[in-house]
Amino acid sequence: SVLEMEVEQINKGNYEHYMQKEIHEQPESLKTTMRGRLIRGGSCKAKTVLLGGLKDHFKTIRRSRRIVFIGCGTSYNAALAARPILEELSGVPVTMEIASDLLDRQGPIYREDTAVFVSQSGETADTLQALEYALENGALCVGITNTVGSAIARHTHCGVHINAGVEIGVASTKAYTSQIVVMAMLALAIGGDTISSQTRREAIIDGLFDLPNKVREVLNLDQEMKDLAKLLIAEQSLLVFGRGYNYATALEGALKVKEVALMHSEGMLAGEMKHGPLALVDENLPIIVIATRDSCFSKQQSVIQQLHARKGRVIVMCSKGDAVSVCPGGLGRVIEVPHVEDCLQPVINVVPLQLLAYHLTVLRGYNVDQPRNLAKSVTTQ
Ligand code: G6P
Repeated sequence: SVLEMEVEQINKGNYEHYMQKEIHEQPESLKTTMRGRLIRGGSCKAKTVLLGGLKDHFKTIRRSRRIVFIGCGTSYNAALAARPILEELSGVPVTMEIASDLLDRQGPIYREDTAVFVSQSGETADTLQALEYALENGALCVGITNTVGSAIARHTHCGVHINAGVEIGVASTKAYTSQIVVMAMLALAIGGDTISSQTRREAIIDGLFDLPNKVREVLNLDQEMKDLAKLLIAEQSLLVFGRGYNYATALEGALKVKEVALMHSEGMLAGEMKHGPLALVDENLPIIVIATRDSCFSKQQSVIQQLHARKGRVIVMCSKGDAVSVCPGGLGRVIEVPHVEDCLQPVINVVPLQLLAYHLTVLRGYNVDQPRNLAKSVTTQ
């Protein structure tokens, strides 16, 4: 109806599509996610994280034998992005489970485990069933959802709402970055406040406060990503190589491209390049290599060299100012992104890939907000 169309227009504001709106909304959605939860007082010591929904359970989580992340799709990728910082700050082993795979294997879940269920909708059938399974096995079950009152929010023992605001586009964007931020805050909250970790913790908290600004900055790449999309419009396939903090970024970037642009795309662990993917490299197949500054940088530089040695068609995502060092002799294209604390870099790095997927889709003439065959919330198995 006309009324429905008008309401839709209002909701979308000046944007053409919900996915576009939700991508550009991220500076604000991240602020909402952090509101009231990050405290930066006058003295350094006053920097803390408050997650009310978990406060009675931190002791149990800290003492658990392991933390198991369980989710599907983008929510799984968000947990994967947060895994390294949670391991670093908590010292508790963190394992990853795709909900359906855990159920297929009836994998071991113990009373001493903390099982963390990550779900934007809070209604995904596989994740919900994995929750029932973990409850039966006696694990402490924590929910991280965007939907107050959802099944996962109701059935878990405790949890955190990501407060990203309603997400309408089938492909998740703003929920992904808010999920990572919530899990980074979780890592800070669980991690001991030891003297040795103090500098690191403060750097992360400062980084979180500044993150919305940095996301606003990276959104300026919109036109550049549209130009890149024009270049890639007719490709059959796109690979994305990442590692460390940005292995998840590679998976999530590729997921966005296949979900909405209906183009084959795979995210790959760069450390596995020589064990198969290298055979695919030629002058035609575009490969995005994520090589922003962190402890994996020199390894990624050597990956780039090896791809060039095989005449690969390389597009490098690097930190601002690094174009020359990742692209000796001006070989290939670069995407320069603002530098943030390493564990928060996935929040920045995913944005150009979201924009790329969005523009590829529009240019190819597909439905961005409702890709064929997909549903926002998969409530059947
Ligand atoms: C569907 C959606 C994805 C989402 C996944 C998990 O596949 O299309 O965008 O990541 O479900 O959904 P959840 O609500 O559990 O995060």
